[in-house]
Amino acid sequence: MKEDIADILIREAQRSMRRAIAPYSGFKVGAALLTKKGKIYGGCNIENPSLMLSICAEKVTLVKALSEGEKSFKALAIVTGDGEYSTPCGSCRQLITELAGNIDIYLASKKGIKKYSANDLLPHAFSKNFA
Ligand code: THU
Repeated sequence: MKEDIADILIREAQRSMRRAIAPYSGFKVGAALLTKKGKIYGGCNIENPSLMLSICAEKVTLVKALSEGEKSFKALAIVTGDGEYSTPCGSCRQLITELAGNIDIYLASKKGIKKYSANDLLPHAFSKNFA
């Protein structure tokens, strides 16, 4: 049977989550971002003893893809080490919306998968057009 794109993305997010560096919070996060051309970039959270310097998995993932020249995105999957649903934090929502647009966002937990759009998670987002 053909595997659903959400399943593929979630598996990649889980693979990335294993590389999370989260000794302070103990909360591992993994993300995987699908480009419109079908390439997948993964990322994990990376913490620092100066806690303000810690970076979310979603930001790492987005920055990896953008710095490789990617411009068009389709979907993002997010998983966490505790097996619960976890939505992106506020600043990640802003970055996702601004830099990836209104992509699909899959949240996976041990109970299943929830699908949102970036606009669902950040309605009335700030933009330079004040739209
Ligand atoms: N974290 C993420 O990676 N993504 C989010 O959207 C929220 C929080 C990370 C940051 C920190 O390493 C840990 O989860 C606990 O806040």
